[in-house]
Amino acid sequence: MDPRIAVVPGSFDPPTLGHLDVIRRAAGLFDQLHVLVVHNPGKEAMLPIAERLRLLERSIAEADVEGDVIVAAWSMGLLVDYATDVGAKVLVKGIRSQVDVAYETPMAIVNRDLAHVETVFLLPDPSHALVSSSLVRQVAGLGGDVSPYVPPAVARFLDTGARGF
Ligand code: PNS
Repeated sequence: MDPRIAVVPGSFDPPTLGHLDVIRRAAGLFDQLHVLVVHNPGKEAMLPIAERLRLLERSIAEADVEGDVIVAAWSMGLLVDYATDVGAKVLVKGIRSQVDVAYETPMAIVNRDLAHVETVFLLPDPSHALVSSSLVRQVAGLGGDVSPYVPPAVARFLDTGARGF
């Protein structure tokens, strides 16, 4: 049987505890998981892509996520092109609310039409239901404590910059 490969795409600007929860759940469901940092032109970025990759790698390692997890970035075109290149037939998205369902559904349909890539929605732990990268960006930008919402590596980074990370 072919290995079951999935992609968890997102901006991850920065990675949150909600992201990590979805990554852990997805890693347990698939043989190989690609966590893919994708530039979203609709959002003004806080962190460079390279920094998001480092933070994701560190956060996943420190959380002892089990499974074959690859962290990568993609800016060369359609997300489904990356999925097809690595043999992934599934995209995984975390769903916090009906708002997320409304946002994700058109993308899921288009990705299926484009390349027969299905989207699986996973529910994170309800304790992460209100956490979003945009909220973290806002609180961090105003000097607030974001440690309840992000993995320790991200909290250290946002607290100290690259120093101590
Ligand atoms: O974390 P985000 O910002 O909600 O992630 C959105 C993202 C990056 C997954 C989405 O913008 C995306 O899939 N971009 C890839 C571009 C693409 O393939 N678009 C066409 C089909 S939707």
